[in-house]
Amino acid sequence: MKFFIDTANLKDIKEANDLGILDGVTTNPSLMAKEGITGAENILAHYIKICELVDGDVSAEVIATDFEGMVAEGEKLAALHPQIVVKIPMIKEGIKAIKYFTNKGIKTNCTLVFSAGQALLAAKAGATYVSPFIGRLDDVSTDGMTLIDDIRLIYDNFGFETQILAASVRHVMHIVNCAKTGADVITGPLSAIEGLLKHPLTDIGLATFLADYQKGNS
Ligand code: E4P
Repeated sequence: MKFFIDTANLKDIKEANDLGILDGVTTNPSLMAKEGITGAENILAHYIKICELVDGDVSAEVIATDFEGMVAEGEKLAALHPQIVVKIPMIKEGIKAIKYFTNKGIKTNCTLVFSAGQALLAAKAGATYVSPFIGRLDDVSTDGMTLIDDIRLIYDNFGFETQILAASVRHVMHIVNCAKTGADVITGPLSAIEGLLKHPLTDIGLATFLADYQKGNS
């Protein structure tokens, strides 16, 4: 199972990467805006900085919503760095663009996926990754994990190679449940990834071990 971090914050990316368990990065226009990265040239330069920090796939999202625009933008993004994955929204023109990039051997991430039918189409078009947004489904009282289960079943039925990239991951149990279900990748914030480290019994046990050592060695 791969771990991606979902941010454009270079400090968080470095911190996750320093743990030694990071396999890639996902970004989106909102995450770039949150870091104050604006203007086409600054945005492209920021993607290169991310690629240089992490040894893994880095999803860069297109802004265009028509086929020609997505192709032009995606080709520019893909030419930036070999680690770039062109992130394309799940819309009709997006499916055409994914198929185009698949035929050219350029990696894609089909984003904003909220149903099994959408995930099936993305796989048919040859997407490298499909991004079901589990947190946003939970936000509207729909179980996001059920979608991951359904996509896993469909992809396994037909041997689709598209990787399930569970997105909009918000907390530790999302990650654990994705691991149980067989999602290929999770992407979430640093807080969710580092949350996996925590257990109160670990803290209590370590404090006791250190205190007992001090008693015998002081
Ligand atoms: C996926 O690639 C998106 O960037 C992301 O996971 C969205 O998460 P959010 O619902 O927390 O904004």
